[in-house]
Amino acid sequence: MSEKNVSDGAALWHGRFELGPADELMAYTESLSFDMRLWADDIAGSRAHVSMLVSVGILSASDGQAIHSALNTVEAEFLSGSFTFEPTDEDIHTAVERRVTQIAGDAGARLHTGRSRNDQVATDLRLWCKREVRTVRHHVVALVEVLESRAAAADSATPPLRLPGYTHVQHAQPVLLSHHLRAHAWALLRDADRLADALERLDVSPLGAGALAGSSLPLNPQLTADELGFARPFANSLDAVSDRDYVAEILFAISLLGVHLSRIGEEWVLWTSAEFGFASLDDAYATGSSMLPQKKNADIAELARGKAGRLIGNLVSVLTMLKGLPLAYNRDLQEDKEPLFDSVDQVRRALIALAGMISTATFNAERMSVAADTEALVATDLAEWLVQKGMPFRQAHGVVGSVVRESLASHTPMVDIVRAHPELGDEAAQLFASGVALQRRQSPGAAGPGAAPLQRQLLLAEIANAKEKMS
Ligand code: ARG
Repeated sequence: MSEKNVSDGAALWHGRFELGPADELMAYTESLSFDMRLWADDIAGSRAHVSMLVSVGILSASDGQAIHSALNTVEAEFLSGSFTFEPTDEDIHTAVERRVTQIAGDAGARLHTGRSRNDQVATDLRLWCKREVRTVRHHVVALVEVLESRAAAADSATPPLRLPGYTHVQHAQPVLLSHHLRAHAWALLRDADRLADALERLDVSPLGAGALAGSSLPLNPQLTADELGFARPFANSLDAVSDRDYVAEILFAISLLGVHLSRIGEEWVLWTSAEFGFASLDDAYATGSSMLPQKKNADIAELARGKAGRLIGNLVSVLTMLKGLPLAYNRDLQEDKEPLFDSVDQVRRALIALAGMISTATFNAERMSVAADTEALVATDLAEWLVQKGMPFRQAHGVVGSVVRESLASHTPMVDIVRAHPELGDEAAQLFASGVALQRRQSPGAAGPGAAPLQRQLLLAEIANAKEKMS
């Protein structure tokens, strides 16, 4: 392509066409508005491609030099914000190539030798994912570390912070606050692991697959794969240009991560309500109301809950776009980017905001322990105490159930009924003393202080493991 054609406003594929593209076509089919952010990856891919073309003898060293230097200029223009797009730039790939050709003339027109936008876009997007998903993983682990440090601090208070554990949002059994916080940490570490797993699988370079079938030119995909830092080159050119499994996998991993964040969010909405009062947010991480002067709202927590829908939507839109697509490239595939970019951006922001919110919040130890010492939370311990005296659990369950019923019916504290009960008595009544029920919960992985040190050790090891995978 000569410089004249480009400035005349021709598209890169103009040769076969008599007329230029309609404005409506460009407006509808362009992807530049969102794939612009692939510019650095596009330049990296082009550099590797040019070096490979030179080393296999398709491109002269001097043409290679001219293209490399034009790519350096283009990079500098992007970095300084002086790169100007033209109306014929359909996407980031055409924009970079058009500019390289403007700068390097005929040499620039050789850049696209043996390459198609189909293998180019697949390469760019994988490079982008390798960098950005790593960042997301980093923020996942950072949030886990916030949870763990709050958990450790909660355990080193005297007494260790405790709250009711719930099933069906009904009081169930007392748990350490550290145990509750670490439950979320474990879920998030699985998310980090899923992202690492997706990264490992996507580490394949599609460059050299061409439009769909490879090339009659002696390309060397291994060279470009090595130069770009991919683990390996593609094995099948059709698969290389049509595979978007990695986009779907990342969107799934982010959706599940988003679901976990939404569950954390929901709890903080509850915990910071007047009814629970278990925690209060730092001013910097709460919002006010434009009308109600007294309000302090947990908007970060609410959005962590609300945005999960959008993350799931992005996964569903990509899966739906992919289903039924024949091999190999179809323009539908262009629809992979906005959902992917959106999910990565949203989840990164959510992770950072939640980490800030949780690390600066204040726990109300008093409110939590009063709730944790509610009599009904001791019911299971009473039954287990009877079991240790030899009573079959089903029968023990019945005995304690009748204590609860009697307490409710007669408005008498359970502890008084227990003390007077022939099968329970004074010793069983000791279980109602503050913190005792929790203290007794020490089977492996349990919610009491006896089991906490081992869990902490396991969690720290898992965090170290996750970090090592990122280094
Ligand atoms: N903008 C396109 C995309 O994002 C690049 C590939 C276009 N290839 C083509 N043959 N039309 O998928």
